[in-house]
Formats: sequence, structure tokens, C-alpha cells
Amino acid sequence: MLVLEKTKIDAQVLDFTIMGDERGQLIALEEDMNIPFELKRVFYIYNTVGDIRRGNHANRFSRQVLVCTSGSCKIHLDNGVETMEVDLDRPNKGLYIANNVWREMYDFSEDCVLMVLSNKLYDPDEYIRDHKVFNEMVKNNLL
Ligand code: TYD
Repeated sequence: MLVLEKTKIDAQVLDFTIMGDERGQLIALEEDMNIPFELKRVFYIYNTVGDIRRGNHANRFSRQVLVCTSGSCKIHLDNGVETMEVDLDRPNKGLYIANNVWREMYDFSEDCVLMVLSNKLYDPDEYIRDHKVFNEMVKNNLL
């Protein structure tokens, strides 16, 4: 796993090895290898309506890797102090996001398929969905 960019926020842009040949391309994602956690869940977002922002939450415990397997989108990250934007625009580029980082996904291309790998099963109770609450928790060292 090549870490392209170590960000100021607890996140990393990952560059996956493409195993291409004359037949086409292939990328393999494996837990504790190029995915820096135990793999428990995969979900994907597609047919996203233009101009929509998804996400708008932080996860208390889930760590995730986001990959646009098709098309492109942008990710806004926020640790309560700093923010940054990441372009996901090729299938061999991943974005690792630690737990307790606020994220918003936007600028989805029509053909975007955003795949998310997670170290936790889905649990709605681990979501912080109110940005004011998130900022308060950061300020009070509760995360
Ligand atoms: P939601 O959290 O609103 O998606 P996003 O963060 O991209 O805006 O999830 C949409 C719906 O899907 C909601 O009813 C919860 C459900 N869901 C699951 O059942 N399992 C999952 O792993 C995820 C991510 C969502």
C-alpha cells in the first residue's frame, strides 16, 4: 500500500496497485494489507442525484476506505478544527478516513459508484449527525 498523501486530518489518500494486462485492469483490496483494518462491511452509493451532499456525519467507531470504482466525486473532511477536500477520480485511488472525522460527499458524476469498506457492521447509534454536536464534542475532548 502506497500512502500518497498524509493529510493533516486523520485520513490518508491511498494508491492501489493495478494488476492490468492486455485483457483489462484488476485491483484487489485485502484486510490488513492495502486496507488498514479488519473488513466487516462493504456498501456502495450510485445513481446519486446531482448537487446532492451525502454523508454529513462522523462515525464514533467505524474506520472506512472510500473508492470511486467508476466516475468521480469529492469528499469534504472535517476534524472539528481543520477541513480539507479530496478528489476521488480513479478506481486505484482510495481515501482512508479514521473514526470521529466528519465527512460529506459531493460533486458526484453521473456514472459515480462510490464503494465504502468499513471495519464495523452498520450501527445507526454510532453516528454523529449534528455538526454542532460534533464541534462541541471535539471542543470538549469527548472524541
Ligand atoms: P445514510 O446513512 O443516510 O447514507 P449517507 O451517509 O451516504 O448519506 O444511509 C441511507 C440508508 O441506508 C439509511 O436508511 C441507513 C441505511 N444503511 C444501512 O442499512 N446499512 C449501511 O451500511 C449504510 C451505510 C446505510
